[in-house]
Amino acid sequence: MDGIRLDGRIALVTGAAGVIGTETMRLLAARGACIVAVDRDAEALKRAVTGLPAHAEPLAVVADVTREEDVAGYVKLALGKFSRVDIFFNNAGIEGDIRPIVEASVENFRRVLEVNVVGVFLGLKHVLPVMLKQNSGSVINTASIAGLIGSAELAAYSASKHAVIGLTKSAALECAGSHVRVNCICPGMIDSRMLSAIMVGRNKGQPVAPDRVVDRIPARRLGLAAEVAPIVAFLASDDASYVSGSAYTVDGGRTSS
Ligand SMILES: NC(=O)c1ccc[n+]([C@@H]2O[C@H](COP(=O)([O-])OP(=O)(O)OC[C@H]3O[C@@H](n4cnc5c(N)ncnc54)[C@H](O)[C@@H]3O)[C@@H](O)[C@H]2O)c1
Repeated sequence: MDGIRLDGRIALVTGAAGVIGTETMRLLAARGACIVAVDRDAEALKRAVTGLPAHAEPLAVVADVTREEDVAGYVKLALGKFSRVDIFFNNAGIEGDIRPIVEASVENFRRVLEVNVVGVFLGLKHVLPVMLKQNSGSVINTASIAGLIGSAELAAYSASKHAVIGLTKSAALECAGSHVRVNCICPGMIDSRMLSAIMVGRNKGQPVAPDRVVDRIPARRLGLAAEVAPIVAFLASDDASYVSGSAYTVDGGRTSS
């Protein structure tokens, strides 16, 4: 396949059974990487790794990113099989309930922060020592444009994604002087289960006319997971050797104004 090559790189992907995780994992594998795929959904994970090329030597690990023992476990299994981690796509996340703050539960708020912030933090906590010891590696956290601007009826999600950007920049600073880079991506409206759930949730359970959504996007269409994956591949690669602490929008221009 044309494009950036990642031959022999070891890529650890969380949320690997989701739309963005699966698409990215497949692209990294197509570009030559070996894959450690992590998700809490065992069945969906099995389906996601099916069809990966043999050279990817896929290792599927069922784990909950909010549990430190699970996180330590997936890193240990990755090292046990491949002895290193070159690329960490720290991507698992949930949208939570779609409700205004005044109607939202504190349980939902805590749960969203637990997965989207604590999960990302634990991934960094356990993968960065491996990369710092290697003196090489690239972490790509998944934030969102909801980490750059507010999002009505998604306050917990938006707060969590703002936190992911803060974690990314802080981790990049803590890797100063090494060849370890930490960046994040901020996808916009990606055609996906998560986006549909948010749109329908905001519309009181009713389907939403596509025009209402895309009118505010300069590209005048939803994005595809296949348009997010190449940005991750770029950040993972040596072509991004001078890129760290950045938040890359992949949003068709949605946050331009
Ligand atoms: N879809 C979008 O439009 C969009 C836009 C911006 C950002 N994002 C972010 O991209 C990431 C991936 O989203 P997606 O659209 O692929 O969603 P998705 O729901 O399809 O995938 C998320 C995956 O994460 C897994 N997961 C959730 N909680 C977990 C946990 N505690 N431990 C382990 N795995 C867990 C789920 O099982 C699922 O497979 C998320 O962080 C999301 O917030 C998505």
